[in-house]
Amino acid sequence: MTATIIDGKAIAAALRLRVGEQVGRWKAEHGLTPGLAVVLVGEDPASQVYVGSKARQTVECGMKSFEHRLPATTSQAELLAVVARLNADPQVHGILVQLPLPKHISENAVLEAIDPAKDVDGFHPVNAGRLATGKPNLVPCTPLGCIALAKTVHPRLDGLDAVVVGRSNIVGKPVAQLLLIENCTVTIAHSRSRDLPAICRRADILVAAVGRPLMITRDWVKPGATVIDVGINRIDASGKSRLVGDVDFTGVMEVAGAVTPVPGGVGPMTIAMLLNNTVTAAAGIHGLEVPKLF
Ligand code: GUN
Repeated sequence: MTATIIDGKAIAAALRLRVGEQVGRWKAEHGLTPGLAVVLVGEDPASQVYVGSKARQTVECGMKSFEHRLPATTSQAELLAVVARLNADPQVHGILVQLPLPKHISENAVLEAIDPAKDVDGFHPVNAGRLATGKPNLVPCTPLGCIALAKTVHPRLDGLDAVVVGRSNIVGKPVAQLLLIENCTVTIAHSRSRDLPAICRRADILVAAVGRPLMITRDWVKPGATVIDVGINRIDASGKSRLVGDVDFTGVMEVAGAVTPVPGGVGPMTIAMLLNNTVTAAAGIHGLEVPKLF
């Protein structure tokens, strides 16, 4: 059997269209244009590419984009001053400070300075706490993307066995909490887990978020399972550099029911969910009903 490939690129494009339609309605009905501010400190090449894509897609959806590119020498106090200005700016509904930050800046201090109502990354402890207590408001983008992709295969996730490999604050923990809210039986596995392959083989939904290229092979996967690959790893193969996930896609395709590819799976969903979260934040700030776009 060959698994279905979950087309994250197409699913993300459809979500961006719905975001754009919602923005159009708000402009017409309320004169409201949601705005997203992205702050980049330093010249990390991968971060520059992400920030450029975020700005372009924000504008394509009809929203306002504010870009703040600051030198790597920016002090923590200067960055906190930028965040304070954005918190107070009524044109800005969403604030994202691109990670990683230079070593002399405390990521926690910066993330906690963002107004939780504008925290479109969902990294502020208030938003992490809301998710942990089952009352989510702004939820991290990549985990939201994972759930949306899994739901294209299983519109109801109730009762399914879900295994999340990885326990980061950005992906592993929030995706596990979302799966719990969807009534899955959730296991969080990690580098210290005993017999990782056996744990993974129990999964109806297997989410790989470890950052180890091609770690999950076909013998770790239950026949028919849905496999969501969050990994983005650059490897050198026969003199060429290519992107691979945490999942050995070719092998796993032969046993799984559905698999997300890398690239073109979870990746495109992250920015689409950022745009969705900007709409959610704008609704909260203006006392409007939060539209359900996925
Ligand atoms: N760097 C890599 N992924 C992310 C993300 O989702 N949010 C932020 N702020 N920085 C990132």
